[in-house]
Amino acid sequence: MKLLAIETTCDETAAAIINDDLEVLSTVVASQEALHERFKGVVPEIAARAHLERIIPVLEETVSRAGCSLQDIDAVAVANTPGLAGSLLVGLCSAKALCLGLNKPLVAVNHLHAHIYACRIAEGRDVFPCVGMIVSGGHSSLYDCSSPSEFEYLGGTIDDAAGEAFDKVASMLGLSYPGGPSVSKAALNGDPTSYSYPRPFLKDSDRLDFSFSGLKTAVRYSLFGVGNPVDPASLSEEQVANVAASFQQAVVDCLISKACLAIEKTSHSRLCVGGGVAANRVLRDQLQTAAEERGFELCIAPMSLCTDNA
Ligand code: KG4
Ligand code: ZN
Repeated sequence: MKLLAIETTCDETAAAIINDDLEVLSTVVASQEALHERFKGVVPEIAARAHLERIIPVLEETVSRAGCSLQDIDAVAVANTPGLAGSLLVGLCSAKALCLGLNKPLVAVNHLHAHIYACRIAEGRDVFPCVGMIVSGGHSSLYDCSSPSEFEYLGGTIDDAAGEAFDKVASMLGLSYPGGPSVSKAALNGDPTSYSYPRPFLKDSDRLDFSFSGLKTAVRYSLFGVGNPVDPASLSEEQVANVAASFQQAVVDCLISKACLAIEKTSHSRLCVGGGVAANRVLRDQLQTAAEERGFELCIAPMSLCTDNA
C-alpha cells in the first residue's frame, strides 16, 4: 500500500509517500523561509499564496521521486488542524481533489499528533504508550498518548509557543529568522547563568503548563530597559551570546521540568519529542541526561523530521 501525505499547516509546502511498513519512499519540503524572513515571522496571507504556487510542483516531485504515478496511490493523508486557515485550505483542497479524482479515501491527520508520529517513523517500531511533547513555532504541548489514535491533552503554553519566543528573541538580538538555529548558534559562546530569566510554573507540581510571553518581555527589558525601543545595533557580541544562552536555558529548563512531571503523573516510561524546537541541541542533550537520571526512554525525532514535513 502507498499513502500520499500532504502538509501545509504553516509555511512549509510538503508531501511524502510512505508504504505499509512506514518506510518513506519520497519526501519533499518546499520551505518559505526566504519569503517571511524580512517580517521575522510567518505572514499568513503570503504563506497561503506561496502554498498555492508550490503544491502542484511539490506533489509532482514527490510522486516522481518515489518512482510511481498518482494511480499507484491507495489513500491520501492531509494535516487538517491546527494551523493557519489559508495554509490549511490549500493542502486540504488539494487532498480532497486528489481523492475525488482518483476515487481513493482521505485520511485527516492532526498536525501536532503528526509531530509525534515522526518519532514512530524514525524509530521503526511502536513508541506508544508515551508522553508526547510538541515544541514548535506555534505550539508547546504535552499529551498522554496511550495509542496512535488516543492523545489526551495534559497541558501546554498559556500564551506564546517556545519557537515563537526563539523567533522574537532572535529579532531583538539582531539575529536571523528563523530564530531557533540563530539563537542556539549565538548561545554557543555565551554563559547561560549570566542573566536570570523567569521560569514560570517551574515549582508548581500541579500544572503541566508553560508561559513564554513574560520571558520575551524579560529579555527585552534586560537589554534595552523599560519603555525604550529595541535597538540590536547597540548590543555587543558578548551581550548577544550571553542573552541567547541564558534565554535558551530558561526555555529548556521549563520544557524539561514539565516533560519529567508528565512522565511522573502518567507513569509512562517513554517520552517522545517532536516539533521544530526539538532540533535544539541543548534541549536534546539535557533531555537525554534527564532521561538517564530518571530512568525513562527518550525518543526525539531526528533533526530532519523535527521541523514541518509530510
Ligand atoms: O515545527 P515547526 O517547523 O513549525 C511549526 O509547526 O511551528 O517549528 C518551527 C519553529 C521555529 O519557531 C524555529 O525558530 C524553531 O522551530 N526552531 C528551533 C530550532 N530550529 C528550529 N528552536 C530552537 N532551536 C533550534 N535549533
Ligand atoms: Zn509543526
